[in-house]
Amino acid sequence: MKGVFMPRDPSIYDKCHAYDHPERAREEGWYPYFRPIEKAEGSYVIIEGRELLMFGSNNYLGLALDERVKEAAAKAIRDYGTSCSGSRFMNGTLDLHEELEEKLVAFSGKEAALCFTTGYQANLGAISAMVGRGDHVISDKYNHASIMDGIFMAKGFAGDVKFHRYKHNNMEELEARLRGIPAGEPILIVTDGVFSMEGDIVRLPEAKALADKYGAALYLDEAHAIGVLGETGRGTTEHFGNPALADLVMCTFSKSFGSIGGYVAGPARVIDYIKHFARSLMFSASMPPANVASTLASMQIMEEEPWRVQRLQEIARYMIKGFSERGFDIGTTETPIIPLITGTLEKTIALWTALFNKGFYTNPVIPPGVAPNRCLIRTSYMATHKDEELDTFLDVTAREAEKLGLI
Ligand SMILES: Cc1ncc(COP(=O)(O)O)c(C=O)c1O
Repeated sequence: MKGVFMPRDPSIYDKCHAYDHPERAREEGWYPYFRPIEKAEGSYVIIEGRELLMFGSNNYLGLALDERVKEAAAKAIRDYGTSCSGSRFMNGTLDLHEELEEKLVAFSGKEAALCFTTGYQANLGAISAMVGRGDHVISDKYNHASIMDGIFMAKGFAGDVKFHRYKHNNMEELEARLRGIPAGEPILIVTDGVFSMEGDIVRLPEAKALADKYGAALYLDEAHAIGVLGETGRGTTEHFGNPALADLVMCTFSKSFGSIGGYVAGPARVIDYIKHFARSLMFSASMPPANVASTLASMQIMEEEPWRVQRLQEIARYMIKGFSERGFDIGTTETPIIPLITGTLEKTIALWTALFNKGFYTNPVIPPGVAPNRCLIRTSYMATHKDEELDTFLDVTAREAEKLGLI
């Protein structure tokens, strides 16, 4: 029939029709994702007209809702407009981008820094630019999806990229992988600083010692570490007291910085190379003015108000102790990402639903985000949470978990 699309049989759409998990979850009334937030203020959000206490945001320092950060974004829109309408490469570089990159050089202690439109694009672009034909890349099994996608992209462009994984944070296995690589073949080790689902910290001094022993470069994703770890919030390297523990540092602006965007920092020649080979930088519009300006404002506040990092760390210690004392399995977290390990999908959904109904927003993490027997409720904290909000959350969560036989 003319003008009517008649799909082939089998059709490209068959998999979509066969995939009915979300529809079933919606029918059963427990679908937890894509819930629109109608308003956000302090530690609260409004969802479906109801006020919920937010324990599922990565706005660690509370800066995404800070009036000074909002005003900086509004001013940048007035001065530069809402979009750069082009890539950094062409018409999309503002003086503001360069100002931010200069500040990041000072902040990271590296020779150069380069901003991307998101953290995802930073990992995608930087890793796929760095790893080419004949190179080896070694990754922790719990690394973020954007790292994996950067590696897959590298493999897509240069077929014989050699990809290795090691058991989560297992330095013995990392060394075994390194030992197996013939001399003279370049290696990049990639790891998260703080692991995004379980909140544990990479054994960085050992990873760096191994990198040095085998002549590998070390790339550190600090998405959940900057603003969170170290006395001044400079991340995992500061936590371990040595800024030289990573060769290349990547971070997002979507968490502690309360904005959107990401960056990679490292040796000047390497950053210049990435600038000219990262496809996610070259073929995508640059960070919008409002986000550059809000990141700059957040960086200044982080410097002027060290209490935010200190308060966040105090909250993390308090909640880790609180959940442990109440009998929760929270893995080996040392940060304000605290997983409540629930095990099965059914128990996870039951606890998440109970908390949601009682007025608490958390994030259920189920396969493929985690292994099928390691489902969890990911809770996360902000420097702006109040003591009484934390105590109420601890008590209600314990009551609900007890009813489900989880503690
Ligand atoms: C460890 C890690 N790396 C990278 C990213 C990507 O950052 P963005 O949200 O800026 O794309 C995330 C975000 O979830 C993350 O958790």
